[in-house]
Amino acid sequence: MPILTTTKLGGSASDVVLAKVGHGLMRMTWFPKDGVPTPDQEAFEAIKAGLDQLPPGVKMLLNSGGTSFLSHAAWHRRSLALKGEFYGHTPRTGNVELLSRFFEKYPDYQDKAFLSIKASLSRHAAGSTTDLSKLHLDNSPENARRCVDLVLEKLRGTKKIDHYEFGRILAGDSVEDNMRTLTALKAEGKFDHIGLSDCRAETVRRANAVVRITSNEIQVSPWSYNKEIRDAIETCGELGITVWAWSPIGKIVGDNKNNAITLALEEVAKKKNITLAQTCIAWVSSRGPHVMPLPGSSHKSRTLENLAAGDIVLPAENIAKIDEVVLANSDETARRIDDPHTN
Ligand SMILES: NC(=O)c1ccc[n+]([C@@H]2O[C@H](COP(=O)([O-])OP(=O)(O)OC[C@H]3O[C@@H](n4cnc5c(N)ncnc54)[C@H](OP(=O)(O)O)[C@@H]3O)[C@@H](O)[C@H]2O)c1
Repeated sequence: MPILTTTKLGGSASDVVLAKVGHGLMRMTWFPKDGVPTPDQEAFEAIKAGLDQLPPGVKMLLNSGGTSFLSHAAWHRRSLALKGEFYGHTPRTGNVELLSRFFEKYPDYQDKAFLSIKASLSRHAAGSTTDLSKLHLDNSPENARRCVDLVLEKLRGTKKIDHYEFGRILAGDSVEDNMRTLTALKAEGKFDHIGLSDCRAETVRRANAVVRITSNEIQVSPWSYNKEIRDAIETCGELGITVWAWSPIGKIVGDNKNNAITLALEEVAKKKNITLAQTCIAWVSSRGPHVMPLPGSSHKSRTLENLAAGDIVLPAENIAKIDEVVLANSDETARRIDDPHTN
């Protein structure tokens, strides 16, 4: 059934209409299940299934990684070994390369997709991808140019970059200078719009004072909704910026199966006869018209299940019940946003 619920993007992309739920592609090639990247056929089916649900004139957010973007600390926290650029283990299986093969096979789908890329892995990390000590990000004008050119090279003209962002704004960097760097690359026609990744309210405000920001990618889920997140959502709403809510359901796959929040969600899911994942997505979507859930799935059936959740409106009493449990169990002091800039 075609998608019914759409949203207009923020900032300079305010004429772009997207399905309310986006599709994150990260896990297709980056720490995928069993360490094996999703085979092309399966990944293509999952991407295409979503795009096939779009009514005319509506696009779908495909969220990809230009270069790996986690900080040293985040890498260590997750005990991951860096295996390569592009959300992937090797260039062959990299996320952007996967996309270039997809759009090569299905050129008619170019216009249905709104492609967002995040990048800024340093040259040294890219050159020595198994050496964690050398992994770092570099938002300098030289490296930013190198990264975006690399992404364009890997896309091979199969799809334009609609939207681009640095993986993180780094401590010690000027947010304003970073935005000027992206503005200059945008002016050269390398991409159409500029966004942010994991930025707190103050950083969003400063960035948006330099250039019109389209989106801010932050982790929003029933398990990740403390003041830091709520403030960022509110500020984005005030400034007309879309929030791309990453990992909206990730925790149900992880270590929260029996906690109070999960139990409250399960109760609503049962009442509404929808899945737990759909309940998470519908709740995240209820945070505001400018909040787009960004689940990631490598499977067609789950992609469709997640997209369908964009059309589910939870009754006010169900939302109130989930809100109550979420807020009662929220760690208000935890750092949820990996943005050292406004410390
Ligand atoms: N800006 C940032 O710093 C940042 C950080 C992390 C992620 N992201 C973006 O956010 C996207 C989503 O992140 P995520 O993958 O962590 O989030 P997620 O959607 O919360 O979790 C994905 C996991 O849930 C599974 N899943 C998906 N749909 C499901 C369903 N309906 N029922 C049960 N399990 C389901 C997936 O498995 P299958 O693949 O097997 O379906 C996968 O293991 C990424 O692809 C990336 O684009 C951005």
